[in-house]
Amino acid sequence: MVIKTDRGFEHPTPSDITPREVFESRRRLLQGLALGAAGPSMALWAQRDARAMTAGPGKLAKLPGVASTIEGAVVMDKLTAYEHVAGYNNYYEFGVEKTDPARTAHTLRTRPWTVAVEGECAKPRTFGIEELLKLAPMEERIYRLRCVEGWSMVVPWVGYSVSNILRAVEPTGKAKFVEFVTLADRTQMPGLRSSVLDWPYKEGLRLDEAMHPLTLMAFGLYGEVLPNQNGAPLRLVVPWKYGFKSAKSIVKIRLLEKQPRSSWEQAIASEYGFYSNVNPKVDHPRWSQATERRIGEDGVFQRKRPTLMFNGYEAQVGQLYAGMDLRKFY
Ligand code: MTE
Repeated sequence: MVIKTDRGFEHPTPSDITPREVFESRRRLLQGLALGAAGPSMALWAQRDARAMTAGPGKLAKLPGVASTIEGAVVMDKLTAYEHVAGYNNYYEFGVEKTDPARTAHTLRTRPWTVAVEGECAKPRTFGIEELLKLAPMEERIYRLRCVEGWSMVVPWVGYSVSNILRAVEPTGKAKFVEFVTLADRTQMPGLRSSVLDWPYKEGLRLDEAMHPLTLMAFGLYGEVLPNQNGAPLRLVVPWKYGFKSAKSIVKIRLLEKQPRSSWEQAIASEYGFYSNVNPKVDHPRWSQATERRIGEDGVFQRKRPTLMFNGYEAQVGQLYAGMDLRKFY
């Protein structure tokens, strides 16, 4: 069977196929939202349906979101199980092994929490986390996230477009880039004793990338607040870039005239460029980027998936890079 997916025409494997009840539930949900004007009861029913679909284990506070209507915000791939999303992490402040953060990040204190938004803007401001939680309606977005190391996940995030925060501070005409600075506190983060990176962990985007509606500030996943190891209380998710661009536990956002240097670029510029768009045609200097392993699909007979240009978000973000040599700007 050949089907049209958001990746184009291709043959699905059994693991590609979203279970029927989940798919139909999502379709009913989208139909329900489209019919939102028909009455609040339909919209409420649709939201309840979404919660049933992506409920977490119920150990953390609930953080529901309405299904996003932004183009590309809901991929139909099978979701990665919560236990893998919260159990297989990169968060070097809590150790360099994939299982370290889930074991050690309980020491992260997520309240009180503030985020200073400053630099090239007319109204610099420090937001409290409670203010940020109310700044814009929470949406559920189902994104692929692909790590530069060659594994990927599909996660139902809860949050809203980063553009909501940036607009609130009114960027000036000089603002061309956005830097995201994350928490670095030795009393909470055992990994800071290692000099593997120059702390705090920093990442950067061009302003137009940061303003793109798909660029998400996530506060939760699976309908609950973020587990600490996934970057509580708020983290970036840039679905068309390698996972390391998605900075966790953000404390500062700076609007800049000049391109900032991210922690990974500072550590090994030849391997981790500023752009870091998912690109199967540009190999990492030490390995191919043509395929990926979907977490939770391990097994001797499990084939690797082909990696998609811009992680499958080409239709939405390709125009941001029109005319650029993506081998040079890797
Ligand atoms: N943010 C901080 N502060 N520290 C980190 O080590 N690792 C990055 C990114 N954000 C990292 C970070 C990398 S390499 C990846 S792949 C993603 O977080 C992993 O996010 P996940 O644990 O939610 O899958």
